[in-house]
Amino acid sequence: TSTYVPYKVKDIALADWGRKEIRLAEAEMPGLMALRKEFGPSKPLAGSRIAGCLHMTIQTAVLIETLVELGAEVTWSSCNIFSTQDHAAAAIAAAGISVYAWKGMNEEEFNWCIEQTLFFGEDRKPLNMILDDGGDLTNMVFDVYPELISGIKGLSEETTTGVHRLYERMKNGTLHLPAINVNDSVTKSKFDNKYGCRESLVDAIRRGTDLMLAGKVAVVAGYGDVGKGSAESLRGAGCRVLVTEIDPICALQAAMDGYEVVTMDEAATRANIFVTATGNINIVKDRHFKAMKDKAVVCNIGHFDNEIDMAWLNKNYGSTKSQIKPQVDLYEIDGKEIIVLAEGRLVNLGVAMGHPSFVMSCSFSNQTLAQLELWNHSDKYENKVYILPKHLDEKVAALHLDHVGAKLEKLEQEQAEYIGVTVEGPFKSELYRY
Ligand code: NAI
Repeated sequence: TSTYVPYKVKDIALADWGRKEIRLAEAEMPGLMALRKEFGPSKPLAGSRIAGCLHMTIQTAVLIETLVELGAEVTWSSCNIFSTQDHAAAAIAAAGISVYAWKGMNEEEFNWCIEQTLFFGEDRKPLNMILDDGGDLTNMVFDVYPELISGIKGLSEETTTGVHRLYERMKNGTLHLPAINVNDSVTKSKFDNKYGCRESLVDAIRRGTDLMLAGKVAVVAGYGDVGKGSAESLRGAGCRVLVTEIDPICALQAAMDGYEVVTMDEAATRANIFVTATGNINIVKDRHFKAMKDKAVVCNIGHFDNEIDMAWLNKNYGSTKSQIKPQVDLYEIDGKEIIVLAEGRLVNLGVAMGHPSFVMSCSFSNQTLAQLELWNHSDKYENKVYILPKHLDEKVAALHLDHVGAKLEKLEQEQAEYIGVTVEGPFKSELYRY
């Protein structure tokens, strides 16, 4: 229990700007605003002390203030060293919430920030809920502060990579709390991962490089949800897009969507732009770097920086590295220049502003519902990984229809009986894949 630091951000003077953008974001986040209206008065999160570790952006600020409005006490850190939006962090700090996040911190500071969120206020009360993105906070609690586990009711996890870690823990018997996998709500992974990246990937490459994308050859490694959105983003910008996959189903999907499916060895010689979206390691490595064209752009949109073998690059060619601007570096490999964005860390949050508010409203409505469920009904759950029930997934989608002017057809009784559902839903079986 370290001494109390109320907050640490880059510059508290940015708070007014952050507040103005938070107000605009609220207008694009109908799901979170509806949950405030529904649950704000009854404060169902009263008594909860939620430690959150998730990219400290404007959209996350709206999530944080939703949790507070529902009665929670909240502390926050960012789950990536480059993903904090300093004006968002400043606004949250100015609102009296303990946030420890700034863009461009080092690894040591990153761990320090997460550590600060474990204990609340002057009296250093420990957290009793975890809200995580990628599993670094969860790992710190389980592996470094196991004495805190017994006071915690549960955890919710945002992303594919973090969820993967939770299922591994469940298999190994080291999952010590009930966990809700927010990622696999349909209204999360089929929206944020896909449509979010469709907007934010090209945004990041443009902000980083100002490169003409039309006519370039791009390769996307991995054709999962993030890969699908990323490939479409690049195609929309006029790139010819190659895809690499290890899974024949996703490879076939990519081919049927009109992309050329190739190996990374082939793509390495052809592509001008490399994007990794696999959640796996060493997708772009030594021999690929050596085969690349001059001025190739290399970036990653998966959760961790090990998708690109940055360790190899820095060990062998680190001496040639020169910074063009923050998060944009040039390396020289055997006479050819390679541009690496965000040091191989997730590019849309490192170089651009992450996903737009509207799609994050879907993700964060799921997060809020997961926290509500675990805080109020943790006795119903074992130390396993759960997903939210389908009626809540459908509810999250329903909360976002109005905003895009979508009008829903109403199922008639006779029709409902014919397809074997009720008129209120759920409308699909658990097997349906969307
Ligand atoms: P996913 O599991 O749907 O897709 C990953 C795909 O990569 C799979 O189809 C898999 O077969 C493929 N893959 C695995 N190894 C490969 C290899 N060696 N070569 C080619 N393909 C390979 O996962 P999802 O949801 O698309 O997430 C991917 C990553 O992106 C995760 O780390 C996740 O946490 C992260 N993520 C990042 C976001 C962002 O805003 N930057 C948003 C959401 C998720």
